[in-house]
Amino acid sequence: MRIKLKSHSESESLIFSLPFTEIKDYLYNLEINGKSVFFIVDKSLLAFKQYRKFLENKRFFLFNATEDNKSLESFFKIHNFLLQNKADRKSLVVGVGGGITLDITGFAATTFMRGVKFGFIPTTLLAMVDASIGGKNGVNFKGFKNYIGTFNHPSFVLISPEFLKTLPQKEFNVGLAEIIKYGAIYKPELLDFLVSNNEAIKSKTLDALSYLIDESVKSKVEIVEKDFKESGLRKILNFGHTLGHALERLKKVSHGEGVAAGMVFASYLSFKKGYLREKEFKRIVEIIKLYGLPDYIKDVNLKDILEGIAGDKKKDGEKIDFILLKGFGKPVIEAMDLLEIENGLQDLRKYYRI
Ligand SMILES: NC(=O)c1ccc[n+]([C@@H]2O[C@H](COP(=O)([O-])OP(=O)(O)OC[C@H]3O[C@@H](n4cnc5c(N)ncnc54)[C@H](O)[C@@H]3O)[C@@H](O)[C@H]2O)c1
Repeated sequence: MRIKLKSHSESESLIFSLPFTEIKDYLYNLEINGKSVFFIVDKSLLAFKQYRKFLENKRFFLFNATEDNKSLESFFKIHNFLLQNKADRKSLVVGVGGGITLDITGFAATTFMRGVKFGFIPTTLLAMVDASIGGKNGVNFKGFKNYIGTFNHPSFVLISPEFLKTLPQKEFNVGLAEIIKYGAIYKPELLDFLVSNNEAIKSKTLDALSYLIDESVKSKVEIVEKDFKESGLRKILNFGHTLGHALERLKKVSHGEGVAAGMVFASYLSFKKGYLREKEFKRIVEIIKLYGLPDYIKDVNLKDILEGIAGDKKKDGEKIDFILLKGFGKPVIEAMDLLEIENGLQDLRKYYRI
């Protein structure tokens, strides 16, 4: 795969999927073209020999990738590293890691000397299909996620599914939830593929992973190109995320688990409103369960969920934008009031006989 992501801003990305062994050649070519390259690397990758070898003879900053460290303090440390190593405006900064590492790398690069070029080598499934695409960079601030940041595309994204062989199952599932999302809101073929290639995907067969990644990347690129700064269409990417974020905060479930349960709820609301057939709602549930993701998170207080949803930054007055489906690949953005959401949550409980 080789895709160019164009946008209304000056920046654009070249996105490649390529074998791990070819990443080195790509970077080598940049270096012989006179670029000094600096790497910001997820520290946990050092546990694996193949990644340690990859970093030989490179200048790199090791980043302990946690949400707490996705902070202004780490941002300044990265700036300090670049300064001490005499990076200049012609330097290139490359993030190697999951979404946390890429988000902070993009933010540091776009602010260092008012912005230097940067590239991404995503190493988690979520980073490959989501965080590396779309130009959102940033850090958390005072407990708010991604509160300070920039919009700017990396010059390149090098995707090698081989990284996924070392990724823990729980992290792999986070990416799968986003792929199910693309299938539901944009590319229904992905849903069919997820059902008919379940074994190949679970055993991380490279061909199956490449198909999933390529089709997901294409989906996100097409959506982002139409709406870079999230004023309209891009909001559909939040399918399942409003409830998902609330569950993540309240129950400490992973992002993927929250989004999975959130997608079930949004599909259920769509079914209750007569937008989606029950068969389609059940298909979403079936796929989510097939991949070991939760379709429902138990033991959550309804009032807490509603407060969690209302506190979401996408809130608009009393109404909250919810992404619903009028069929697979046919999302609609609907402003819903809290009472409607509460009724929906209660009905879903009854549906699950809880
Ligand atoms: N910019 C965007 O558009 C965008 C979109 C979605 C998510 N995000 C951000 O992405 C972050 C989540 O990203 P994530 O899920 O990739 O999490 P992450 O970066 O925390 O990585 C998950 C875990 O996997 C480890 N890891 C990474 N690659 C590995 C590999 N190949 N083998 C073994 N272990 C590996 C990491 O050390 C970490 O413990 C959040 O901060 C979120 O806000 C950004």
